[in-house]
Amino acid sequence: MLTLCSYNLFLHPLSSYPGPFLWRALRLPYVIRALQSHLAYDMLELHKRYRPIGGTYDHEMPRWKTYYKVQPNQKGMIFTTPPAEYSQMRRALSYGFSERGIRDMESRMIGTLDKFLGRLIEFCNDRDGVLPDRPAQGSSKLGSAVINIAKWCNFMTFDLIGELTFGESYECLKTGIYHPWVKPVVELTRYSGIFSNLGFYPKFQGALLKVFGSLTCRRMDFHQKHTRAALERRAVKVDRMDLLSESIKQTQASEDPGAWDKLVMNSSALVIAGSETTATTLTAAIYLLLSNPEAYREVVAEIRSAFTSEDDITMAGVNKLDYMLVCLNETMRMLPAVPVGIPRMVPKGGRVLNDRYVTAGTIVTIWHWALYHNENFFRAPFEFHPERFLGTEKFASDARHLLQPFHVGRRACIGRSLAYVEMRLTLARLLFRLDVELTDQSLKWAEQLRPYNLWFKASLYVRIKVRRRDGDDAGAYDLQC
Ligand code: HEM
Repeated sequence: MLTLCSYNLFLHPLSSYPGPFLWRALRLPYVIRALQSHLAYDMLELHKRYRPIGGTYDHEMPRWKTYYKVQPNQKGMIFTTPPAEYSQMRRALSYGFSERGIRDMESRMIGTLDKFLGRLIEFCNDRDGVLPDRPAQGSSKLGSAVINIAKWCNFMTFDLIGELTFGESYECLKTGIYHPWVKPVVELTRYSGIFSNLGFYPKFQGALLKVFGSLTCRRMDFHQKHTRAALERRAVKVDRMDLLSESIKQTQASEDPGAWDKLVMNSSALVIAGSETTATTLTAAIYLLLSNPEAYREVVAEIRSAFTSEDDITMAGVNKLDYMLVCLNETMRMLPAVPVGIPRMVPKGGRVLNDRYVTAGTIVTIWHWALYHNENFFRAPFEFHPERFLGTEKFASDARHLLQPFHVGRRACIGRSLAYVEMRLTLARLLFRLDVELTDQSLKWAEQLRPYNLWFKASLYVRIKVRRRDGDDAGAYDLQC
């Protein structure tokens, strides 16, 4: 142990980078803070204290100045499939994520959103048959209800990704519970952060996996089995255009005996990557807007003056909503769906980063939450100011180009455009039909969030009320859904 510490402190190629003594000597403090879900926050403090390059951790260092600069040779990046195979996989998937592909899927997106809003309006109207202990009320009143919007956003994004990937909804909106196939995915997003950090101690991780792993593996097996069955059902619908249409064609034509297995894995990846991230951003946007009444009023006014009917709220229609777009961007700055650092390995030949040569194989990382809350780059970083993305003078010094919640480079999020369309349509339709208010029990929702690889989210209770128009009968009562 002493030898390892001495090596890390004095002989390691990164030993000259500054950082807290214990963190430079050992990986343990890093892992402990990660398990306590505090690492994303610690990074901000470390970056402030050790400018311009933060603390060094074993083989890892954050990279400054060169943020997001795509390096000419990105071969050998961590978490990649072999480059040749990866490029083909990405190309096959990219049709579904192209502008045309997204346009082809618009009506299915709107169909899911109709179900989402339909459910929320049912709660307000007391026509829902699922809830026990409902107050006895007339069934046709335009009232209000208190709902956990975090949960319903998750249900919506799961149903939608099921629809766009397999042509089958998971029916979470209908049943009001997580479908058994997606439950393991929700759990995985939670526990992957813990297990990946324990990977620094393989023996301990192995022991833990023995105790808890079999249960997790069984659940993931269950998920994979159903993914495979859904994919087989999807594959016979030859004329369908969606996220997998091109990949299915290529897989069917492929001579690789493992091609189908890879497609199963990839479709699972879409369900994981495309649901929780968007649901978190939508929930965060609702919370931040409701906590900032001026911004809420402005976004609502923009939406309600742009459309006279819900049917006008289409992909093309929401493109006009500039203020709503900056609200979403400010949300992703305040609460990026992926708050942690996404590791990249310095490629062969090394690179000069921040005026210093960094050897090949070093892992460099950008910590999204820490970067976006650094006052050197964003003025008043802990405050919600959508206008900073409109170029107002007060925020002229903001380094707006640093906001990259989808990351950059050839492995950046393939779902970026789809996510924007989904979020813009959802928010516009929701705020067009409903008035929303934060309840007292969720005033401090953001403080209850815990950053692992993704966020552990608390329930967000909001009061929804069908927007009043002339002649509406507006009785109000509470339901906890
Ligand atoms: C607000 C919503 C979203 C955010 C913030 C987000 C963020 C990210 C980030 C940070 C990455 C890692 C990129 C990298 O390693 O450089 C990623 C990868 C990915 N995302 Fe998203 N994502 C979102 C929505 C979606 C959606 C809706 C889908 C699909 C339906 C999706 C599919 C993927 C896939 C497939 C990858 C892996 C890309 C690759 O390795 O080539 N994401 N996302």
